[in-house]
This record gives sequence, C-alpha cells and structure tokens, in this order.
Amino acid sequence: MKVFLKTEDEIELMRKANQLVGSTLAELAKHIKPGVTTFQLDKVADEFIRDHGAIPTFKDYPNPFGSPFPASICTSVNEVVVHGVPDKKTILKEGDIISIDCGTLLNGYNGDSCYTFCVGEVTDEVKKLLTVTEQALYLGIDNAVAGNHLGDIGHAVQTYCESNGYGVVRELTGHGIGRAMHEEPKVPNYGVRGNGILLKEGMCLAIEPMITMGDRHIGLMPDRWTIRTLDQKPAAHFEHTIVVRKGKAEILSTFE
Ligand code: LMR
Ligand code: MG
Ligand code: MG
Repeated sequence: MKVFLKTEDEIELMRKANQLVGSTLAELAKHIKPGVTTFQLDKVADEFIRDHGAIPTFKDYPNPFGSPFPASICTSVNEVVVHGVPDKKTILKEGDIISIDCGTLLNGYNGDSCYTFCVGEVTDEVKKLLTVTEQALYLGIDNAVAGNHLGDIGHAVQTYCESNGYGVVRELTGHGIGRAMHEEPKVPNYGVRGNGILLKEGMCLAIEPMITMGDRHIGLMPDRWTIRTLDQKPAAHFEHTIVVRKGKAEILSTFE
C-alpha cells in the first residue's frame, strides 16, 4: 500500500482544486429549492467547474459493473446514500434532503467534498440526522492529526453516530486523495482506536461519513450507480478533503 505524502507545493494545488469544489457547492446552494431538477443542478455545477478551468472528475467515471457516470456531480435525494444520478425526472420538493458530492481536477490535483442540503423546511428528525452527520465529520477531522492512527478517525465517527442511534455504512469509505481522486489508504467510518496506519503530516484524506437514520444496510439500484438504504429511510453524507498536520488537521475544501 503506497500512501503519498504531499509537499507544501502540492498541498497548495490541492487547496485550489478543493476550494473550487467548495465554491461549486456554495453556487449550487443558491439553486436548491422545490421544483428544481437534479439535471438542472448538474448543469450549474458542470458549467461552474469548467468556467474555472477545471474538469468535473465524476463525469465519465468508469463503473466496473455498468456504464460510466453520465453527470458531473452526484445528487443523492432522501434514501439515496451516494452516487445518485442527476436526471430530469427527479424534482426536488419541500422537505427533501439532497447530498451533493462534487469532484474537480485542477492542475493535476483533485478536490472532493460533499454536503447534504435541506430543500425548504425538513422535519426535526431529519435535521438531527444532518447535524449529527456533519458533527461526526468534524470529530473525524479532529482525529486526523500526525501521530494518531487511521482507526482513530473511524472510531470517532462511528461511536458518535451510533450513540445517536444511527447506522454507519460499512461498504463505502473515505480515501486518500491527490493526483488520483481515490488513493490509499481507505478511510472507514468505523474502527478501533490505535488501529490502522500511523497518520503523518502531508497525508491528504477525504473523510466522508455516510450515515443512515435507520438500518445501515444499502443496496445498488438497477442503474448500477444509485446506492440507497434498504429500509428506504433517509441518509446523510458530509465530506471534506483535509491534510494531516501536527496538532490540527487543515481542511482544504472549505465551504464558501
Ligand atoms: C467520493 O467521495 O469518493 C466520491 O466523490 C466519488 C465516489 O466514488 O464516491
Ligand atoms: Mg466525494
Ligand atoms: Mg470522496
């Protein structure tokens, strides 16, 4: 397993790619409202990313089980956990949640971040799922410091989410990120303190809790992309790309 440590020059390039992801999500936030289709959101993102000189990494991303990803962002509504495919039929309505996962390639380096947005007013139950998932991401990031182990990140995410009665998806993980969107190591959202590789300054990681309101089990839909909860209860997904530092991780994909 090869885990690349990035130089400060590389981190600067990673920051640019990731800030563009952050500003794309901020741009999308302005368009999220009842009546909008996920196809329209994809158009906004694709144009915004290309206008800023980058490539939307998800477009044509290969799928070992089917056709390449047809869009530039993943739009995962309600019970869809990840990899929702934007289309003209999915019209947002009041009370929905939508996780938008976005990736950019800029000057040879990758950005990757996800945010779960509310469409209008959502129930208190759903609000809590989003709050806990976002807090879990930050607890994971707090543990991504030099000298800790990879398992410390997952342990922090898992214990916090499970103590709130939520499910932690096991089949999908965070990852190293750099010249490739998915590099070593895998960054699970569960784990044991002190287990896994030692974290070193300069490791760039995408930390991304995928948390379910009900049971944690997921299924792949016939389009071979969409992954949803089996019990069809909602799921949330928050992701940041960070760089491991001494004392405190630095978030590269700042939102706005
Ligand atoms: C991710 O967060 O890793 C995504 O952006 C892409 C994927 O394959 O889920
Ligand atoms: Mg992502
Ligand atoms: Mg990712």
